Amino acid sequence: MIDTNEISWDESARVKETLSEYADMIMEVIEKYLPETNCLQRKAADAARYSMYAGGKRIRPALVMEFCRVCGGEPETALPVACAVEMTHTFSLIHDDLPCMDNDDMRRGKPSCHKAFGEAEALLAGDLLAVKPYEIIAQAALHKQLPEETALRIISLLSELTGLGGMIGGQTVDIGLSGQTPEVSTILEMYRMKTAALLEFCCKAGCLTAGADASTILTAGTFGQRLGLAFQIIDDILDITADEKLLGKPVGSDSAQGKHTYVEAVGLDEARKTARSLSEQALELLKGFSDNSFLVGLTKMLLYRQY
Ligand code: IPE
Ligand code: IPE
Ligand code: MG
Ligand code: MG
Ligand code: MG
Repeated sequence: MIDTNEISWDESARVKETLSEYADMIMEVIEKYLPETNCLQRKAADAARYSMYAGGKRIRPALVMEFCRVCGGEPETALPVACAVEMTHTFSLIHDDLPCMDNDDMRRGKPSCHKAFGEAEALLAGDLLAVKPYEIIAQAALHKQLPEETALRIISLLSELTGLGGMIGGQTVDIGLSGQTPEVSTILEMYRMKTAALLEFCCKAGCLTAGADASTILTAGTFGQRLGLAFQIIDDILDITADEKLLGKPVGSDSAQGKHTYVEAVGLDEARKTARSLSEQALELLKGFSDNSFLVGLTKMLLYRQY
């Protein structure tokens, strides 16, 4: 069993440095996809840029590029897909914060998109970031940056794992559970969809960009699911325990919104144990990949994160 007891300062610093290198790479390209313009329709574009540039941990693009690398590809090959998934994720956050969803006023340490631009523009900015990824991946194939079949498989996977069986499905279950007393298994199924599915996408898509075989893609996807479940449980714990300034979004939002979380169902201690056990399962799966030290460090860092 890989030790998840702690992450050393050195290991954490190395993970943060690599994360920031990947973040710089995607932001340079995102600038190209979301240029500053003076056009008639600039408001939605400005709102989308605002949320994209607000920061965030950028773990999803890092997973895409790193899985490409550990499967023998050049991380740069995966850049369009990495940018695309950060857009999909940012769209999910903009919509998640809307008054009709979680009604949260802060995101990534700044006023939420709808607070800064109004609800209609936030809705449209989210829409823009929801559809742009498919154009980016298709264009990557048209410009021979990705083989056509790879691009088609990634487009299909992104739609599947963002759609009703994935992120959007999880969000509708999340909203629908208000006022009910769900089984713990239902809460975990909701997490699998709303959060873990997109992380599964990142890991699988990274492998696809490197031309990896089916069994490698499957293992990476299972890693992403375990990591994603642990990630959402820690997110729920942080909603209770975090320093709001550090978190960059409101603390206590889940209980204020009457959300049913795994932490509410089993308590903080049990939730921490489950997150740890899921992270251990994720680390086991990484043994199938050589040169995996960033992925190992990232898994541990996300378990012990404060934001
Ligand atoms: C927040 O995701 C939404 C969840 C799935 C819990 P992140 O914690 O990755 O948000 P950013 O990108 O760092 O802001
Ligand atoms: C959100 O879960 C998952 C998404 C798909 C956006 P949360 O509602 O707990 O995420 P935060 O806490 O607002 O980031
Ligand atoms: Mg939510
Ligand atoms: Mg929320
Ligand atoms: Mg949350």
